[in-house]
Amino acid sequence: MNIAVGSDHAGFHLKEQLIEYLIQLGHEIMDTGVSSPTRCDYPDYAKKVCTKVQSNEADWGLLICGTGIGMSMAANKHKGIRAAVVSDSFCAAATRNHNDANVLCLGERVIGVGIARQIIDSWLASSFEGGRHAARVAKFMSTETEV
Ligand code: RB5
Repeated sequence: MNIAVGSDHAGFHLKEQLIEYLIQLGHEIMDTGVSSPTRCDYPDYAKKVCTKVQSNEADWGLLICGTGIGMSMAANKHKGIRAAVVSDSFCAAATRNHNDANVLCLGERVIGVGIARQIIDSWLASSFEGGRHAARVAKFMSTETEV
């Protein structure tokens, strides 16, 4: 899969570790930065990843900040983006199965690399179930405004 990956300074080290892991798994990575742990603003990096997902250059996006929360809030302001901040593999599967999430957000200050890898494994092994969930996703997507 083609995966766009970005972080702010607080997610930089986990981003580097997860890029290495995803490459080992055979995926194509677009690293949209940040390229060092120098302080920066997470919405700038959320936008870079979301743009890749919106244009279908990326199949999905991975965003990492201190908590994952700021990244998810920023990402969800972009049209067509369904970003979920996740701290365990159960929710990683659930947000693919039920919410058709297309951007995964993680917090480097919240989880370690082992849990992050489990989350990615679970995310990759899961897919959208459609059916009643499709109607619910369509309902909330219909409320978004142009970005
Ligand atoms: C940076 O200090 C921190 O605020 C940011 O990485 C993120 O956790 C925000 O939600």
